[in-house]
Amino acid sequence: MEPKPVRESQVTVSQLMLPEDANASGNVHGGAVLSLIDSAAGVTAMRHCRRRVVTARLDEMSFLRPIYIGNLLTIRASVNDVGTTSMEVGVRAEAEDLATGETWHVASAYLIFVALGEDGTPLPVPRLIAETDAERRRMEAAKRRRELRHHHSEELARLGLKPG
Ligand SMILES: CC(C)(COP(=O)(O)OP(=O)(O)OC[C@H]1O[C@@H](n2cnc3c(N)ncnc32)[C@H](O)[C@@H]1OP(=O)(O)O)[C@@H](O)C(=O)NCCC(=O)NCCS
Repeated sequence: MEPKPVRESQVTVSQLMLPEDANASGNVHGGAVLSLIDSAAGVTAMRHCRRRVVTARLDEMSFLRPIYIGNLLTIRASVNDVGTTSMEVGVRAEAEDLATGETWHVASAYLIFVALGEDGTPLPVPRLIAETDAERRRMEAAKRRRELRHHHSEELARLGLKPG
């Protein structure tokens, strides 16, 4: 498989937040944001490996500021690093007030996708080429997170704190 540059799979999607995206308080529901993040990140992962993928993990995610109905939500997603069959996709979500042009950072997240073959077993993905300094930094950070996830998971298991 030919290695692929980060830029070949990057995705930007924008969606107008409508009343159907609202929670009981009238602001945008967290689930609506999560759904768009998962979709954009999944498309990014599929573009990289050109296979079907499943979301294996969504790392800790905080909602930093509210989004209101009528705002434009924009998600930018790119592959940060790959393992053998898995890909870490980094996502940044921003909201825009279309009346004023003001934009604000809503959330950032890291998602892990796994490429699957026809029989549903994980299959290898192409290597990732980081071409810019920012991409190389993100790749290094993703490798570090992969190690930390592994340690964290082992530690939770050791302490009997893994969700079961
Ligand atoms: C994701 C899934 C295919 C992994 O299957 P598995 O038998 O655990 O596969 P493996 O142990 O061989 O792991 C495959 C890769 O995924 C990674 N992985 C699996 N689960 C992971 C997790 N929770 N977090 C991070 N990475 C994970 C492994 O590190 C491995 O990466 P690598 O090949 O790059 O080294 C399987 O757990 C699954 O089908 N989960 C359900 C996915 C789904 O339905 N998502 C939508 C939710 S509605």
